[in-house]
Amino acid sequence: MLKMKTPILVYLLLLSVLPREFSAAIVEDHKHFQQFKLVYNKHYATDTEERRRESIFLKHSAFIEEHNQNYTKGLTSFELGINEYADWSEEEFMSFMSGSDEIHDIRNVMKQGATFIPPANVKLPDAVDWRELGAVTGVKKQGRCGSCWAFAATGALEGQHFRKTSKLISLSEQNLVDCTLTYGNKGCNGGIKERGFLYVRDNGGINSEVTYPYRAQQDAECLFDASAIAATSKGFVRIQPEDEYALLAAVATVGPIAVKMNMKCLRKQFYRQGVFNDQLCEERRPNHALLLVGYGRNNVTNEDYWILKNSWGVSWGMDGYITVPRNVNFGGIALGPSYPLV
Ligand SMILES: *[C@@H]1O[C@H](CO)[C@@H](O)[C@H](O)[C@H]1NC(C)=O
Ligand SMILES: *[C@@H]1O[C@H](CO)[C@@H](O)[C@H](O)[C@H]1NC(C)=O
Repeated sequence: MLKMKTPILVYLLLLSVLPREFSAAIVEDHKHFQQFKLVYNKHYATDTEERRRESIFLKHSAFIEEHNQNYTKGLTSFELGINEYADWSEEEFMSFMSGSDEIHDIRNVMKQGATFIPPANVKLPDAVDWRELGAVTGVKKQGRCGSCWAFAATGALEGQHFRKTSKLISLSEQNLVDCTLTYGNKGCNGGIKERGFLYVRDNGGINSEVTYPYRAQQDAECLFDASAIAATSKGFVRIQPEDEYALLAAVATVGPIAVKMNMKCLRKQFYRQGVFNDQLCEERRPNHALLLVGYGRNNVTNEDYWILKNSWGVSWGMDGYITVPRNVNFGGIALGPSYPLV
């Protein structure tokens, strides 16, 4: 009991010695953190841990506030916001990215894909959003597990399965996390989405989310249930790297496309809304897989953008989505797109 009260005592002590506005700010900050804990149902094992988390939270919220003042002044194109990751340090957050291509021997995997040939004699629409066409399931959450590659793979397969059968079925990331180790994937320590497509092909299918639920950890064994196949794949198609017209044609005419992109930047951890146009955050080395679900153009700013579904839950971004600039190979988005054949 006494231990739990220590922070309050410390605050009271501080209040008695600090100038008035300053102490009011500390109380406000502390209230803000208490609210955050309540909203996101946060519990910490020890007082020390709680104080560490509060200090990370306060540092991040000051940064977000400063950025948003710039946003209000029109100095930046996107807004940030507190989300459930506000008490995670930047390093901690980045450790759940899937890692670099070198680790994963990406060349040998990509060689196994067919080549996308953009359709000839068609005019692509100015805007496409596969969410409106029913090809995209709800936003999911990878949690403390570097399994983004599995979410991008299921997302693209859900889309192609929908286009083939008119049925939208949420597919199992855990199936891919547990069962693609022999393909070279590393479960919660990263992987390649295309190995997911190859596994589904060789395995004769994948289970649904309901049959094989997500656990945000790597199970000891593969628990695939052959009597409950929800979707199948016949391999994958890769889109010519660094060709954003081909990528546009693919997402316009085929469906949601699995992509990878660089997400290593504090502003990306707290992205809330707007087109993420930030030179300071530009790095073209992809370290995170996402699902490209469409594109459009802001008719006020004339900005072309991509629409991406992320796997960080709905507290992040625009209910789990982000828009980023198009035609600049943003974050290396055009380096490794693919979709499964069904
Ligand atoms: C806000 O804008 C100023 C001026 O461009 C810049 O120096 C500062 O770093 C920006 N703050 C944030 C948090 O991005
Ligand atoms: C611009 O965009 C808005 C909102 O998306 C839309 O309502 C409006 O019709 C568009 N205007 C033009 C000229 O396309």
